[in-house]
Amino acid sequence: MGHQPFVAIKDENSASNLLRQAKIMSFLTPLCFLSLFLSIFPSLTSSTLLFQGFNWESCNKAGGWYNSLKSSLPDLANAGITHVWLPPPSQSVAPQGYMPGKLYDLNASKYGSQEELKSLIDAFHQKGIKCLADIVINHRTAAKQDERGIWCIFEGGTSDDRLDWGPSFICRDDTAYSNGQGNLDSGEDFNGAPDIDHLNQRVQKELSDWMNWLKTEIGFDGWRFDFVKGYAPSITKVYMEQTEPDFAVGEKWDSLSYGQDGKPDANQDAHRGALKDWIQAAGGVVTAFDFTTKGILQAAVQGELWRLKDSNGKSPGLIGILPQNAVTFIDNHDTGSTQKLWPFPSDKVMLGYAYILTHPGIPSIFYDHFFEWGLKEGISKLAAIRTNNGINTASTVNILASDSDLYVAAN
Ligand SMILES: *[C@@H]1O[C@H](CO)[C@@H](O)[C@H](O)[C@H]1NC(C)=O
Repeated sequence: MGHQPFVAIKDENSASNLLRQAKIMSFLTPLCFLSLFLSIFPSLTSSTLLFQGFNWESCNKAGGWYNSLKSSLPDLANAGITHVWLPPPSQSVAPQGYMPGKLYDLNASKYGSQEELKSLIDAFHQKGIKCLADIVINHRTAAKQDERGIWCIFEGGTSDDRLDWGPSFICRDDTAYSNGQGNLDSGEDFNGAPDIDHLNQRVQKELSDWMNWLKTEIGFDGWRFDFVKGYAPSITKVYMEQTEPDFAVGEKWDSLSYGQDGKPDANQDAHRGALKDWIQAAGGVVTAFDFTTKGILQAAVQGELWRLKDSNGKSPGLIGILPQNAVTFIDNHDTGSTQKLWPFPSDKVMLGYAYILTHPGIPSIFYDHFFEWGLKEGISKLAAIRTNNGINTASTVNILASDSDLYVAAN
């Protein structure tokens, strides 16, 4: 990687001393540099570390993904992972699980059977790692057509009538597939499938019951909410209150504002402000993926480290205004993997991890980087640095330098 443009420091030394040292040390790799300066103030504070335990191709794994992921457990436990995000568990028209229909049917999943999932979760629990279910409840696919040929007969996948719905449970402004007759959609439309009417009390009750079943029967501890823009934040609040997860994170993915040069605008306060507003309207307990930090960081690591300081001298992402509720990440099954909808520069991924693992927020690690890109050791070292120095979700950040090729921060 040659001359390194990036440093992040937690230390009590004076700023000028640190800057001098930073210049002296800048020929070293960022990891060496971090290790030298960060292993000074050990602390027992533990902090949440999330792992995304799948990618876009995991549904194709021979022998089943749930079975396969078990062999990763020792490495994840060693890295200090506290929570793993598993893929959507229910029967789905699309193999990745994001077009679910029979929510109670966990045997038709391409990732494996209900028993295999339970066994995987048990194994995680034995290592002290909690499991998040990917909750896809904005939309739902019907099981059957009615006599008019409309796809509006929904089946729950149980022998009773739980989650057996008709068109009155679908938003009435969503007529594409199911001739919806419920309330107007409280959020954005999803084109690919009927949007569920979450203002319907029976919908709220039955989906909460299903999520509580995922907890009690299957063993899940918390949630990753898919496409939360699809319904009002007050709806997320309802499900949070009715299911009381150990941990939950929402996917509210808005585009950053870009200039004519094709680069993100320097000021992304509106973007992170919308994330903060969503979190607060959803009750303030749920966390959100910090898409602001991702977008700024992936531009910053390309010779524009000045981006990592906002006009108040703070971190420019959600971690700069609401770190306790910000889940930082480098890539996921959408932005990276084989979809590559908004990928982090592939040669700068470790710089990205050096940043998120030494900064506040709740860092998450992507399966691909850890296991397929050969970065397990480097990421594990950074995670140990985080733990050993008591860096946690709410750690303070004192940005000492933020130039095009130098970033220095202390806490
Ligand atoms: C899935 O399999 C499990 C165990 O074999 C069984 O208890 C459960 O009822 C099955 N679920 C469905 C929807 O068939």
